Amino acid sequence: TVAEGDYKVADLSLAGFGRKEIQLAEHEMPGLMALRREYAAAQPLAGARVTGSLHMTIQTAVLIETLVALGAQVRWASCNIFSTQDHAAAAIVVGPDGTPDAPSGVPVYAWKGETLAEYWWCTEQVLLWPDGQGPNMILDDGGDATLLVHKGAEFEKAGVVPAPETADSEEYAVILGVLQRSLEEDNRRWTRVSAGIKGVTEETTTGVHRLYEMQAAGSLLFPAINVNDSVTKSKFDNKYGCRHSLIDGINRATDVLIGGKAAVVCGYGDVGKGCAESLRGQGARVIVTEIDPICALQAAMDGYQVATLEDVVETADIFITATGCFDVITNEHMARMKHQAIVGNIGHFDNEIDMAGLAKRDDVERINIKPQVDEWRFADGHSILVLSEGRLLNLGNATGHPSFVMSNSFSNQTIAQIELFTKTDQYPVGVYTLPKHLDEKVARLHLDALGARLTELSKEQASYLGVPVDGPYKSDHYRY
Ligand code: NAI
Repeated sequence: TVAEGDYKVADLSLAGFGRKEIQLAEHEMPGLMALRREYAAAQPLAGARVTGSLHMTIQTAVLIETLVALGAQVRWASCNIFSTQDHAAAAIVVGPDGTPDAPSGVPVYAWKGETLAEYWWCTEQVLLWPDGQGPNMILDDGGDATLLVHKGAEFEKAGVVPAPETADSEEYAVILGVLQRSLEEDNRRWTRVSAGIKGVTEETTTGVHRLYEMQAAGSLLFPAINVNDSVTKSKFDNKYGCRHSLIDGINRATDVLIGGKAAVVCGYGDVGKGCAESLRGQGARVIVTEIDPICALQAAMDGYQVATLEDVVETADIFITATGCFDVITNEHMARMKHQAIVGNIGHFDNEIDMAGLAKRDDVERINIKPQVDEWRFADGHSILVLSEGRLLNLGNATGHPSFVMSNSFSNQTIAQIELFTKTDQYPVGVYTLPKHLDEKVARLHLDALGARLTELSKEQASYLGVPVDGPYKSDHYRY
């Protein structure tokens, strides 16, 4: 139960609204609800102290309450400054049985529109438990909680934190500031926290990328499950989720008619595929940019024009980055765009669009239209519209992916937490994906709700294919 003062959200009086939307979402999240029923008696997460850093939305609220239903203690922050839904955060703090005057839920440190300093303070708060201990599990999205623990432990070992002035970005300077203060307060804090962590389960492509880099560098401190690469995560959330939430974000931000416009999607991975389909569904002429010949060829065969940004920067109307790369749209590109071109990013970090470079130009003026929508007017009179300051627009300008698709992602998260927490000895430090039978289980949990009826293999057919009747049905290298 949340201790007095051990939370920070925008407004607890929003909890009633949040609770109603959580109840609606539960029906749309059959995977999570099935896991609650399956594990109600066994309580596999009893003793787990989970620190979560993942967009604090209504769907995440259902995830948090699932972890609690399985026995876990939880503390939560958002993994983006704009993605929190304040009514969801309030409802989680108040809890199903509490009131705004007497909250009895879970400590949450998250509100929509944090500054970077507030964001990293929130991340720190959820990693420091009030009893002086740390978490024993992390549930991460993008790897920021994992990063803070690793950087903290690294600098404690070195005995010094680099000066924030030496940082190569505003955000890294903030992180160094947090760790500098921390080192002064307690020079073993992050070493102890990291030693207590059994593992992390990571939600997204970019966070997983960071984990493999740490593994390769030999600096990874605890085992990790790569949830993103469960088929029922990346081939569903990244694709169908973005197919839904990309245009939701563009519409809520601008209400510009998408039909007939030329829309550029940078990156044709899982996210880019969903984005391109979403824009085409609205009647846009979609152009894809890619660096990978395989994905470029896929885009071409799916019927999209494949071009370089240089080819289309002056003529297209909408630009969306979905690469996980940096400097994909530079400030020079933005200066050359058409009047009122729309620019947004749906990849995890805000460096896909060179916002820092744009802000530094002396021939451009920023005019705020409304929260998370800015007009940037150039000296020659033309302007562009930038959504969510270049941060993921589907969560900044809209409410992220809908419940049903997140039920798939979060069922994988829940199963991954149970795996790492209960079978710690089977996972030496390294990065793992869930076994295929669990991936298939997640899909199975979602078929009934869509009225989908699965064909069963006969014994003879199964032996002809060389697979068990009950699965798994595909080899690990099958790509779906
Ligand atoms: P992915 O690796 O499947 O796709 C990225 C694609 O971008 C690749 O095909 C790559 O070749 C291409 N690419 C890389 N650099 C490029 C460049 N400079 N120009 C053009 N293309 C380039 O990754 P995925 O799963 O599609 O994720 C993309 C990003 O979206 C990641 O940062 C991920 O964390 C994030 N994400 C965001 C979600 C959201 O709700 N906003 C949901 C899921 C993932």
